[in-house]
Amino acid sequence: GAEAETHDVAFSFEGPFGAFDEHQLQRGLQVFTEVCSGCHGLKYVPIRTLADEGGPHLPEDQVRAYAKNFTVIDKETGEEREALASDNFPANTGAGAPDLSLMAKARAGFHGPYGLGINQMFRGIGGPEHIVSILTGYTGEEKTEAGETFYENHAFPGGWIKMAPPLSDDQVTFADGHPSSLHHMAEDVAAFLMWAAEPHMMARKQTGFVAVIFLVLLTSLLYLTNKRLWAGVK
Ligand code: HEM
Repeated sequence: GAEAETHDVAFSFEGPFGAFDEHQLQRGLQVFTEVCSGCHGLKYVPIRTLADEGGPHLPEDQVRAYAKNFTVIDKETGEEREALASDNFPANTGAGAPDLSLMAKARAGFHGPYGLGINQMFRGIGGPEHIVSILTGYTGEEKTEAGETFYENHAFPGGWIKMAPPLSDDQVTFADGHPSSLHHMAEDVAAFLMWAAEPHMMARKQTGFVAVIFLVLLTSLLYLTNKRLWAGVK
């Protein structure tokens, strides 16, 4: 098969000061809900985190209403019931589709080349780009082997994927009126899945930045102290 092609996307959350765009995350949630959740689960993501600042930041009442989209098996009673905000998104294994909770960090797009994890640093290409590239990488060719249908996709390793093209232009009508070309929807859902996989990315970057400032200050103070201590010694 052809080598997988991933193309770069300028996401708002890249770089040392990058931040998630809550409107983009809300649109991505809409794409996930209306399209992807039909086959994919998001089982490690608590529904209540949709209200988090730095994330989709939905009002609490909307999150409670949103949870009702899903049914879950109650752990205590063993019976099906409407999901609550305190539940995780359900798993979904029916179609044989992988869970998307950690997908944005799971693929070579994020870790490559050769699992070194430096793709992002050197090329600005990571897991969300892999997702955008898959969603927009279909050629329209398909084939059937051993009763299963495969779709040609230049972003998928091996070149043939079992997922039918899930998105096409204007499939979702965004609540915020944002354009919904295939590419826009793909970027929005990829951003949402990056948030799902790493909801505290912004806090992590801030902590890192404070640590760097602190180390720079400490270094200069130690340097000056050292100068002064040894000033008399020639
Ligand atoms: C695989 C995303 C909708 C069925 C995948 C992968 C991603 C993905 C990232 C994994 C690619 C990889 O392994 O690197 C999405 C998104 C969707 C969506 C973002 C919504 C926009 C759907 C729908 C279905 C589906 C609606 C079912 C009708 C599958 C299956 C696989 C898969 C079966 C496994 C493919 C294989 O390993 O060959 N999807 N998907 N997906 N998806 Fe989806």
